[in-house]
Amino acid sequence: MKKRVWLAAALLLCLLLSSCAAPGGEEKKNTASIVVGFSQLGAESSWRIANTRSMEEAAKNAGYGLMMENANQKQEKQIDAIRSFIAYQVDVIVFSPIVESGWDNVLKEAKKAGIPVILVDRMVSTSDDSLYASYVGADFYMEGRRAGEYLIRKADALKAEHMNIAEISGTIDSTPMRDRQKGFMDVISADSRFTVIDSISGDFLRSKGEECALQLLEKYGADGIDVIYSHNDSMTLGVLDVLEQKGIAPGKDILLITVDGEKEAVDALKKGKINCVVQCTPKLGEAVMELVKNLKEGKSVSKITHPEEGAFTDFDDLTDPSVEGF
Ligand code: AHR
Repeated sequence: MKKRVWLAAALLLCLLLSSCAAPGGEEKKNTASIVVGFSQLGAESSWRIANTRSMEEAAKNAGYGLMMENANQKQEKQIDAIRSFIAYQVDVIVFSPIVESGWDNVLKEAKKAGIPVILVDRMVSTSDDSLYASYVGADFYMEGRRAGEYLIRKADALKAEHMNIAEISGTIDSTPMRDRQKGFMDVISADSRFTVIDSISGDFLRSKGEECALQLLEKYGADGIDVIYSHNDSMTLGVLDVLEQKGIAPGKDILLITVDGEKEAVDALKKGKINCVVQCTPKLGEAVMELVKNLKEGKSVSKITHPEEGAFTDFDDLTDPSVEGF
């Protein structure tokens, strides 16, 4: 009950704010009545914080009310949030599913209520893709492939005969975890120079990245690991801290391959402490709000939108101003 009162107050505030003057004093018209319910999965990484900011800014610029609920990494909380958005009859539901499975029932409820759903950042696994209108987010499989392609190039450059790789994965059953792993393996598995000695989950958290590094060093020793492939920058930065504390040179004694492209990781790449940063942009808000607009205008929308991404590596000219993190 308390939650309903809180949500009603939040909705009212959203509507009031969205009907105020836009930046620059210009009055936004016609869009203020559109309310987007957004279930963010957590605040586990700098990527996630930048993504939340992007959603808030884009909603504000579009003149939409944004009801945002942060699930603190709990699927049940996301399901509760979606149900409350349905109860309040928001115009569009946007959510970033923490894991892929377990969404069919709540998505069927949204469909029955006639509220379109946009998936942002991560996918759901369902046999009925009419349960969501559109997905906006990275091609995680290609990100994994880029990481593998870099490793092959690096092994060639070093004339390495054999490399032991330890993988630190993201949240189990999440889209980036599954696809970054598959893309990477599809590229390297046919090459007999590479052995993946272990794969452990660090849940996309810096603190868990540290724990994983300690665990791997304890099990294999620094000499037993040539490469750490970690599914995000937060975990990689945790690994980097541990390596330095132990007198192991990151980027040299152990190669580091990471994904995201946050400023701290790109700066570490420039210092030679990380070898490859595969990009994954958190700036998805504008594309989401464009979809909201098109859905509300009854236009057809594309089922999948991937932003353009690449990678920064130690083969690049890292003094180029285009090499920068978010
Ligand atoms: O889903 C995107 C991933 O989630 C990012 O790589 C990671 O940093 C975040 O927590």
